[in-house]
Parts: sequence; C-alpha cells; structure tokens
Amino acid sequence: MKLSVIGAGYVGLTTAACLAQIGHDVFCSESDLDKLAKLQNGVMPLFEPHLEDVIEGVRKVGRLHFGSTEDAIVWGDAIFICVGTPPLANGDADLHAIEAVARTIAKRATGYRLVIEKSTVPVQTGAQLRKHLSVHGTNGSKYDVASNPEFLREGSSVEDFLHPDRIVIGADSPRATDLLREIYEPIVQQRFDCPIHSDCPKRKKPIFLATDTNSAELIKHASNSFLAMKISFINMVANLCEAVGADVTKVAQGMGLDPRIGPAFLNPGIGFGGFCFPKDVQAFIRIAEKSGCDFSLLREVEKINQRRVEHFVEQVRNELWVLRGKKIAVWGLAFKPNTDDVRFAPALSIIRSLQAEGARIQAYDPEAMEKAKNEIPDLTYCQNAYEAAKGADAVLLLTEWEEFRAIDWKRLGGLMERSLIVDGRNALSPDDLTSYGFHYVGIGGVSGTPQELTSLVNG
Ligand SMILES: NC(=O)c1ccc[n+]([C@@H]2O[C@H](COP(=O)([O-])OP(=O)(O)OC[C@H]3O[C@@H](n4cnc5c(N)ncnc54)[C@H](O)[C@@H]3O)[C@@H](O)[C@H]2O)c1
Repeated sequence: MKLSVIGAGYVGLTTAACLAQIGHDVFCSESDLDKLAKLQNGVMPLFEPHLEDVIEGVRKVGRLHFGSTEDAIVWGDAIFICVGTPPLANGDADLHAIEAVARTIAKRATGYRLVIEKSTVPVQTGAQLRKHLSVHGTNGSKYDVASNPEFLREGSSVEDFLHPDRIVIGADSPRATDLLREIYEPIVQQRFDCPIHSDCPKRKKPIFLATDTNSAELIKHASNSFLAMKISFINMVANLCEAVGADVTKVAQGMGLDPRIGPAFLNPGIGFGGFCFPKDVQAFIRIAEKSGCDFSLLREVEKINQRRVEHFVEQVRNELWVLRGKKIAVWGLAFKPNTDDVRFAPALSIIRSLQAEGARIQAYDPEAMEKAKNEIPDLTYCQNAYEAAKGADAVLLLTEWEEFRAIDWKRLGGLMERSLIVDGRNALSPDDLTSYGFHYVGIGGVSGTPQELTSLVNG
C-alpha cells in the first residue's frame, strides 16, 4: 500500500522504515530542512539501533522516499501523523504541529485519505481532527480519522515496532479499521523479512486491538502514566529503604515475583525522563482536570519524580561534603541507554545542580554528547569513560549503558583522585566494586565499602 509518514523523528522515522520493511511503499516527510537533507543524503539525524540498516535496505529497493509534507500528502492512501506534541507551560500537550499537518492535508489531499494519529495526543483529539479536516477541506476529499498510539521505546524502536505486544487502533468506521488491519497484517502474522532476528517465526503474534478513537487515545496516556506511577512508587520505596536500612533491590525482587505486580519498571533511580513520561503524565493530568476528574494521584507521581534529582545531588553532597571545586565524572547523559535523546534527561538536571554549586563536570556518553552540547555547552566532554574519570573525586553513573558494566575497575581506580562511585541506576555490582577498593553508593540502601575503609571509619 502507498503510505505517508509525517515527521521523521524517533517515532516517524522508525514507523516509515519499518512499514517499508514489511512491504509498503512509504513517503516520509520532515519539516526541518537540515534533517531532511541528511535523510535524503543517507545520513542519520538520530541514533537508534538497527534503524540505519533498515533505512539503507528499503531505500535501495525504492520503498522509502523522503521529501516535503505537501508531497507526502499527495502520495499516500493513509497518512501517519508522527510530529511532536511537547508540553505547554501549563502541562497541556501542544498540538500546534498536529493542527498544521491537518491544515496541509485539508488543502492538498484529493480523494479519500485515512488520517492516522500516531503522535501521543489527549483524548478527543481525533474528534477535533475530523472537524478541522472538514472545515478546511477545499477539494471535496473524504477522510477517516483513526488513532494508532505508538508504544515503541527509544533504544529498541525497530524491534518494538516489528515485534510489538499489541497494536491498538481506534477508528469509528469499518473502512478505517480494515485499512489499518491490512497495513499491519504482516506484523500481526509476523510474516516479513526481519532485519534483526533469524528466529522470527518463533515469535509471538501481537494482539490487534480495535477500539473507538477516544479509547485508543486514552490507552496510550493511561499506559504511560501507569508506568510512570510504578517508577515513582519504587523510588519512594527506595527512600524508605535508605531511611530504615533495607535494600530496595531485594524489596523490588520480592514484589516483582508476584505475577500481579511483575518485575518491570521496579528499578529505582534518578527518575523518569525522555520525551514521553514527563509530558504524558502532565497532559493526562490536564485532560482529566478539564473533564472534571481530579487525578491527584498523578500529581504525586510527578512530584516524587521531580524530587529525584535533588535527592541524588544530596547523596553526592553527603559523600563529597563540599561540592565547590570538586571534579566529578558523569557517565551517561541520555535519558536511557541506547539512545542519543537527552530531552528531559535527569542527567542534565543533575549536572546543572552540581554546576550551580561549583562542581567541575567531566562527562561522557557513548551517543548523546552532540545533543547534550546544545543543552549544556559549558562542561568538559570526554572521549571515553576513563578520560572522564581522570582526577575525579567521584564517578556518577547516570545512564546505564552496557559499556559501563565492562569497565576495567583496576585501571579506573588508578586514574581517580578518590575511588567513589555513586550509581544513580543501581546498574553496577557493589561486591565487585568494593573488591577493587571502591566505595559504592547506590539508590535505596544499596552500598558497599571496602574492608580497609570500614576499619578506617570505625577507627
Ligand atoms: N520518542 C518516543 O519514544 C515516543 C514513543 C511513543 C510515542 N511518542 C510520541 O510520538 C510523537 C513524536 O515523538 P518523537 O520522539 O518522534 O518526536 P521528534 O521530535 O523526534 O520528531 C517529530 C518530528 O516531526 C517533525 N515535524 C514537525 N512538524 C512537521 C510537519 N508539519 N511536517 C513534517 N515534519 C514535521 C519535526 O521536525 C521532528 O523531526 C510525540 O507525540 C511523542 O509523544 C514518542
């Protein structure tokens, strides 16, 4: 089928590439002209595992094209809107990019179009889109509007798109539902040439869940808010563990063994970030408020998350006493591993707080440094984890990239002013680190002190 994707960000680019991979003819548009030029010249504007290879493959066989939004609208029978929906100052989702696309569709489209919201939007956006398309339509075109929320995770977006647990679509006409079923059929049947695995036929087929548009829109916001709630919950349990001398990893393990709870999203840390959870929780609170529902539970989720940065800085202060003039290594800037995305990354907030107290930061991230430089230009960016730790009074692990688990700790200890690791993700082993002479501080009562240091402190 001929499909269009509007917006070549993390979601749009993955969507366009994967829809082409499963056999469709896709035209992807991007309004940022630098980004568009890169894509047209085969240069990736973002880092996402496997995506570059998929794009290269489908472009070679002529199934993926990049260009303007106007041309994309002329191209596809179905149009996926994947533009950003950032938060406004009051927490509402900013839908101006969605509105702009709707206007262009209304002006340019001829004949029938299925317009699909894949961007995360508040409930009832589909109804607004429908109204807007008919008000601004000039060509007598017919539209269906459907919601198709995206659940992919940055860092594994290609895998998540091709092997999802569920595909949710919300449509109010059988024609729209049928079209979406046809588009996704290869994924539902798990019948496509998989660019990642050789054992795909063994994979589980996803559930194709068809609902009305409002319910589909709510499924996305409710899912993200629920996951954010789980994170804030375990972070409060972590605080309690620190206060009473318990170990949050054991508590989380014990909780997660209950199948009604499950182990996912029970990792305490420096709080959630990225372009989804913080803004989606805010937008969900706002839409609930406007609908007369007091979702104060989620306000607490947000508040707990906002306090994580200060809590972590306090932990660092407890260890280093005075921060002014201290050299501090930061490992990890992206909001999570395997992405270069630093939007709402807690690591950046932590760095700003430490800098405000006069600490000197030496930072390293395997992929996110270019994007971080736009946000915080005035810190020392290093080539690798060892260079960042040179002469440092502490290493702070803020993003759990795999390479930080494979560090040569003996070498590292020799480079640092003081052998102190503060692990904001509980990603490292306290036993391993203490065996190399490090003092280890994790989240939620997880810590380790080498024998020599213990006797020194205890006299
Ligand atoms: N990033 C994620 O992990 C994720 C996961 C699921 C859902 N979402 C949702 O998907 C949406 C997109 O997120 P993202 O992370 O891909 O954002 P993004 O900022 O990376 O990408 C959006 C892109 O759309 C482009 N754009 C804006 N207006 C345009 C127009 N008129 N024509 C063409 N291009 C246009 C922007 O230049 C940008 O490149 C958001 O609503 C987000 O909440 C994101």
